[in-house]
Amino acid sequence: MYIPENKISEIINTSDIVDVISESVILKKSGQNYMGLCPFHSEKTPSFSVSPQKQIFHCFGCGVGGNVFSFLMKYNSITFPESVKILARKYNITIEVGNISPEKKKILDLKEGLFRLNKKVMEYFVNLLSQGDQGQIARQYFIKRGTTDKIIKEFNLGFVPDKWDSLVEFYRKLSIPKNVAEKSGLVLPKKSGSGYYDRFRNRIIFPIFDINMQVAGFGGRVMDDSLPKYLNSPETLIYNKSRILYGLHASKNYCRQKEHVYIVEGYFDFLSLYQHGVRNVVASLGTALTQEHVRLLKGYAKKVILVFDSDDAGINAAKRSIDIFINEGIELKILVLPQDKDPDSFIMEYGKETFKQKALQALSIMQFLTVTAIKSHGNSIQGRVAVLDEMKLYLSKIQDSALRSLHIKELAEKLNVDEKAVLEKVRNEHLSSMERKPFLINADESTIDGINEIHESVRREKQMIAMMLQYPEIHKEIKERKVLDFFYSESLKKIGRKALSFDCDKDQFLSQFMANVQTNEEMEVIASLVITDVSDVKEVYDKSVFLMKRIINLRKKKDNTLTKKIKNAEKNCDSDVFELLAKKQNEIRQLHNEN
Ligand code: GTP
Ligand code: MN
Repeated sequence: MYIPENKISEIINTSDIVDVISESVILKKSGQNYMGLCPFHSEKTPSFSVSPQKQIFHCFGCGVGGNVFSFLMKYNSITFPESVKILARKYNITIEVGNISPEKKKILDLKEGLFRLNKKVMEYFVNLLSQGDQGQIARQYFIKRGTTDKIIKEFNLGFVPDKWDSLVEFYRKLSIPKNVAEKSGLVLPKKSGSGYYDRFRNRIIFPIFDINMQVAGFGGRVMDDSLPKYLNSPETLIYNKSRILYGLHASKNYCRQKEHVYIVEGYFDFLSLYQHGVRNVVASLGTALTQEHVRLLKGYAKKVILVFDSDDAGINAAKRSIDIFINEGIELKILVLPQDKDPDSFIMEYGKETFKQKALQALSIMQFLTVTAIKSHGNSIQGRVAVLDEMKLYLSKIQDSALRSLHIKELAEKLNVDEKAVLEKVRNEHLSSMERKPFLINADESTIDGINEIHESVRREKQMIAMMLQYPEIHKEIKERKVLDFFYSESLKKIGRKALSFDCDKDQFLSQFMANVQTNEEMEVIASLVITDVSDVKEVYDKSVFLMKRIINLRKKKDNTLTKKIKNAEKNCDSDVFELLAKKQNEIRQLHNEN
C-alpha cells in the first residue's frame, strides 16, 4: 500500500503519542514526561519514558524508542503502512491511495493476487490431508514423526497426493489467470509447450508465512527416502528466501518475552521445539543466514542461539554466519548437539528440560571456534600452530581490547603456549589486515587504546546532534563552521547531514524529521538523543557554539599530537609505533570518507 506523504504528516500532527501508548502501557506523569513499565523488556521499576512535547518514546532500560509509528510497529509486530492505517482509523483520517504509477499499481495488484491465491492453496492442501487413503498415509507420517494434531492445525500443515495436476485442476476451477498461475511458482509449464504440471507431488506440505501472517510460499517433504527430500517454492514476487524465517510469525512474541531466540535448520526442528514448549524459535530452512534475516530477528531478540547438527555441514554453516551476527551486534551462542542428533530428534527423545539444560552449555563464538579448530587440527605441535593460525584471524577482529586480551590469554592456556607468542601473532595479523584494507576500519570501533578519548568525543557529538534536532536555529552556524566534518562517529555524522539538508518549518522539525527516518536503528538513536532536554531555549545558542568549538578544537589537537608522537616513536624505535600507526590510519580513513 502506498501512502501519500501529506497523509503521514497529517497523522503525525493529529495523533498524540501519550494517548496511543496509554492504550497499552500504564503511564504516570513525571515532570514534563510520562513514565511507565517498558512493554519491550521485563522490568520492575519504570524506565520507559514518553514525551508529549516531542511526541517520542524512549526506554532508558533497553534502548527502544521512536515516534508513534515505531511504537505501534514494535508493539504489534506490524509494518509501517499498517501502523499508519491503525492511526488513520483512530483519528478518522481517510487515506485515499494516492497517485501511484500504473506499473507500481500492477505489481501491487499482482502481489495481492498471489497472497490471496496462496491462502486458497494452503486451505486446499490442508483439506487434502484429512481426505482419503492418500491423506491417511500422510497423517500416518505425521504420527510417526510425533507431530501433534494441534501443531498440524496451528501451522496449517497439509498434503498433496501423487498426481501431476491436483493444483493445475484447482487453478482451473478458480479460473486463475495464466500470469498469476505462473508467478505463483507452484505450477510449471510442460516441456511440450502447452499446459502445466504441479511442482509439489506426493508430499506433506508446510506453508511458509511471512511476518504479517500472509502465506508467502510452501515447502514439501517426501514421506519416504526418495529425493529430493525437501522441495520449496521458488523465489517469487512475495517469497524472498533471504528475508523469511520459518515460524517467526508464530514465535515472535515468545522471542520478545524470552529475549533470546533459537535458530534451527529444518521444518521439523522448528515444529518439535515449538510443540515441546520451546516457542522462541525460528528455522532457516537450510539456506545460509543472511544479514536481512539477522536484522529481522534483531527486532525480536538481542541474543541468538544457533542450534546446528554436529556434522561438518552444520559446523561450517555456523561458522559462515558468525560474521553476520558480529556485524549486527547480536550476542551469539552456538549449541552443538551430540553426534547424530538434530533439534527435532533430540527434544523428541529427551524432552524440553534436557534440551534447555543442554542449551545452557551453548558455546560463545570464541569457544566454538577454538573447539572446532582443535578438533580439526589435533593437539600435536603442528596441530596447535595451525589452531593458532586459524584463531589469530578471529582474535584480531575483536574490537574490545580487554576482551581480546582475555581471549588471547585463554587460548594460550588452552594450547599451552606462551601468551606473548599468541599476542605477537594477533598483532601481526591485525597489521597485515590493515595493510590489506587500510581505510576500512571505523573509528567507532577503534581497536587500539585511545578508546576512551573517542568515547568522550562521541558523547559530545551526540549532544551536538541532540541540539541540532531540537533547535534548527543553530543549523546555519553548524554549516558555516563545518562542525560535522570533525565528527568521529560516522552514524552521527550521517544523521547530522540529513538534519542539515532537511527543510521544514522549525516548529515541526523534530516530528517531521523523525517521520522521514528510514531505519529502526536510526529511530532509536534519535529518540535516545532527544528524550532529555539538552538546554533551554535561551541558553541554547551560546551552549551550542561552545560545543561546536570544542568538537573542532579537540579533533584538531588530537590529529596534531598523533603526528608528533609518531615522529618521536619512529626516532626512538618505540614499540608502540604499531598502535600509533594504526590510529593514524584511522584518522586518514576518516578524512578520505569525508571527501
Ligand atoms: P527431516 O529428515 O525431515 O528431519 O529433515 P531435517 O530437517 O532433519 O533435514 P536436514 O537436516 O537434511 O535439512 C534441514 C533443512 O534443510 C530442511 O528442513 C529443509 O528446509 C532443507 N533441506 C534439506 N534437504 C533439502 C533438499 O533436498 N532440498 C531443499 N530445497 N531443501 C532441503
Ligand atoms: Mn531431522
